Amino acid sequence: MSGIIVVGAQWGDEGKGKVVDVFSAQADYVVRYQGGANAGHTLVVDNKKTVLHLVPSGILHTEATCIIAAGVVLDVETLCQEINALKEAGLLQNPKQLLISDSATVLLPYHRMLDQAREQSLGQEKIGTTGKGIGPAYEDRASRKAVLFGDLFNKEALKLKLDSALKEKNFLLENYYKTKPINLNSLLKQIAEWSEQLSVYRSKDTSLLIHKALKAGKKVLFEGAQGSLLDIFHGTYPFVTSSSTLAGSALVGSGIGPGTIQKVVGITKAYTTRVGSGPFPTECDDAIGEKICQVGNEFGSTTGRRRRCGWMDLVALKYAIRINGITNLALMKLDVLSGFEEIKVCTAYEIDGQNITEYPVSPGELGRCKPVYESFKGWKEDLTQVRMLKDLPRYAQEYVNFVGNQVAIPIDVISIGPGRDQTLWVKPLF
Ligand code: IMP
Repeated sequence: MSGIIVVGAQWGDEGKGKVVDVFSAQADYVVRYQGGANAGHTLVVDNKKTVLHLVPSGILHTEATCIIAAGVVLDVETLCQEINALKEAGLLQNPKQLLISDSATVLLPYHRMLDQAREQSLGQEKIGTTGKGIGPAYEDRASRKAVLFGDLFNKEALKLKLDSALKEKNFLLENYYKTKPINLNSLLKQIAEWSEQLSVYRSKDTSLLIHKALKAGKKVLFEGAQGSLLDIFHGTYPFVTSSSTLAGSALVGSGIGPGTIQKVVGITKAYTTRVGSGPFPTECDDAIGEKICQVGNEFGSTTGRRRRCGWMDLVALKYAIRINGITNLALMKLDVLSGFEEIKVCTAYEIDGQNITEYPVSPGELGRCKPVYESFKGWKEDLTQVRMLKDLPRYAQEYVNFVGNQVAIPIDVISIGPGRDQTLWVKPLF
């Protein structure tokens, strides 16, 4: 058993990129299995920032092989730009560092156009998507009309598929959303350029590759995107993304079975954030939320949008632990909480005059829940220079211990800054 799944335990932006980067030092393979360029994984190495949207966060470790598996919606234009930036920075020299499944769904410019047009037409009712075309691309997959990565290398079949797709998309774009249609020949020309650049990364059957690696005892990290509460089935529907963001999705998206998974590491911030619309019980729409936002630099790495901020929500975190089967936690951005007089943690919700401790799955109900808090004494000390667990200030330790006791699973990692060295290990990874 040598597979480790890394999942977001909140509404995304928990710091999965940093964790996967740090874990990748010990991994042979790093696999992205769902989502697309809606993700923004920020890595800081030697004070240099790299933001990845599609390339797995293991790419900065040249000895690890990064895989984009079948469950991903692959924005080929964005991927080409990302690869060019990595190459220019000298971070992707060897094409063998990145392998792409032939079964991944190709995301094309019309998916982005449809996503944005739809959001605009929804007005106040909008989901607040990233506008990256994720929903329309997964819709094509589900309706069995998607262009797959392997199709890019069969010109005749691709032309037929796109011709048929554009008939429908252009009808919608022109007549329903009143925007410009897409020209088939110009699109084919663009795709030819993108596929030429990406052909060196083509790996056909990545499921077989991962299977063999696991069988040989290789260390495989599965890198989730977005967070559990944005899951299409178990999140705050309809304010969710269009893929399953849970640990189970790592298996489906990569094409492997569950027996090979050693642990599921859930990533949570020491507080909570959310981008886009939807219920968020512990949101602090006040000076506290503003302070968390500014100190934590809580602005989206994909869209630049300000993230909504609030206190740690243990009801939601325990739900995420349950629906993912999370076995271990990484607690991120603890340093951001320095300087607060009082720190709050939500341990229950109050709804219709009653306290509940199980997360309500109906978004209507969640929207009516009020947080029930426990208060903790804050600490003043800057944590970013701490390198040993025992050097955390007393009140920070009390806070971490309280969270650990409440969730009843081990906290393996505590992060106190974006750098690799700002990571406190409670337990080794493998
Ligand atoms: P979509 O995935 O672009 O369709 O957006 C659907 C919802 O998921 C919106 O609320 C987005 O803000 C949110 N979302 C999508 N990707 C991320 C992410 O990587 N981090 C945080 N929120 C995300």
